[in-house]
Amino acid sequence: MATPKTNLTINPQRLWDTLMETAQFGGTPKGGIKRLTVSDEDKKVRDWFKAQCEALGCTVEVDEVGNMFATRPGKRKDLAPIAMGSHLDTQPTGGKFDGVLGVLGPLEALRTMVDMGYESNAPIMIVNWTNEEGSRFAPAMLCSGVYAGVFTPEFAYSREDRQGIKLGDELARIGYKGRHKAGAIKFGAMFELHIEQGPILEAEDKMIGVVTGVQGMRWYEVTVRGQESHTGATPMGLRKNALLGASRMIEAIHQVGMGHLPGVASVGLIENRPNSRNVVPGEVFFTVDLRHPDETVLDRMEAQYQAALPKIAAELHLELEEKRIWKSPAVKFAPELIKCVQQGADQAGFKSREMASGAGHDAAYIARVAPTTMIFVPCLGGISHNEAESTTLEECGAGAQVLLNAVLAHDATYA
Ligand code: GLV
Ligand code: MN
Ligand code: MN
Repeated sequence: MATPKTNLTINPQRLWDTLMETAQFGGTPKGGIKRLTVSDEDKKVRDWFKAQCEALGCTVEVDEVGNMFATRPGKRKDLAPIAMGSHLDTQPTGGKFDGVLGVLGPLEALRTMVDMGYESNAPIMIVNWTNEEGSRFAPAMLCSGVYAGVFTPEFAYSREDRQGIKLGDELARIGYKGRHKAGAIKFGAMFELHIEQGPILEAEDKMIGVVTGVQGMRWYEVTVRGQESHTGATPMGLRKNALLGASRMIEAIHQVGMGHLPGVASVGLIENRPNSRNVVPGEVFFTVDLRHPDETVLDRMEAQYQAALPKIAAELHLELEEKRIWKSPAVKFAPELIKCVQQGADQAGFKSREMASGAGHDAAYIARVAPTTMIFVPCLGGISHNEAESTTLEECGAGAQVLLNAVLAHDATYA
């Protein structure tokens, strides 16, 4: 592979300062970020990001589902841009790095290129994907999915949060329902920089994860219905306790994960109704998340999970409503881009290892329409989706440097 005739060095301190600056948009007292997608805080960080990119001479365009594309021209007009992207939205109790590093790391890479007056062959693009988290509006990776043709824009607009507010209405309200058709703003490759969100790099004392793919993910919604009744006056044997059913189901779901390691099975959101201390619960809603790197094993996990629930419901005289709301198949990334990342890590002298991603990422959908790969850096204790999420200045800087090296290695193939 061609080696780029450059040794551009990013500024880790500037990247860190930028991470801390934007962490104020939705900053929480515990040091994390609450920046739910298409909220007022999301608008603030989007406006900030647009201004920063324009200051670097980029053109910033927005598509109909709010995905933002900032492009710096290259020497050649015939080439599609090389994109670097991730997401600026967070979990309700999110950290400062999940997604954000994958947008601000690229900003630092671009700032370095501009400072050095470096001209790439292909245009260089930074992308901020809308609603990666899927926390406020399910499913996750929603608008990179629209870009990749997995979902329609109308499907995305119709997604409702738990208050019944629609994503499309919120996008219009914050002024980010853009004029470009989803998928119309093209790029030739995408690199996504991200924290690992797991413990492997830290445990093995490696700085860089060279990511080879993303495991398959399936999401489900379950409603269990029983009968509300008086806790004092309803004998134990005559209850239809929806929460008891849900709790047995949650245990059964946990066992699905335990029985299919390294697969994982989780219940993360639960609503108990009426949630009153002296009412036997009449209805429980909860969500299920099953993941495995192998789709055939994931099929078996799904079958076991779906067999377990009706059995528990019948035993407790409960009604059950269960449906799969999302399926994101396992993904393998582009070998030619994986090589660029490996070369970029070696060039910078960082210890690295190949690994698959346990978390979902926009890259998983983008891989369907363009060569795509990812770069991981460690996070303290492997903790993510947590306000305590922590990654050092050196680790963030290492990731941005490898990202820049990888992008330039790919760009050099056009020379
Ligand atoms: C996205 O953050 C996911 O992996 O659920
Ligand atoms: Mn993320
Ligand atoms: Mn996340």
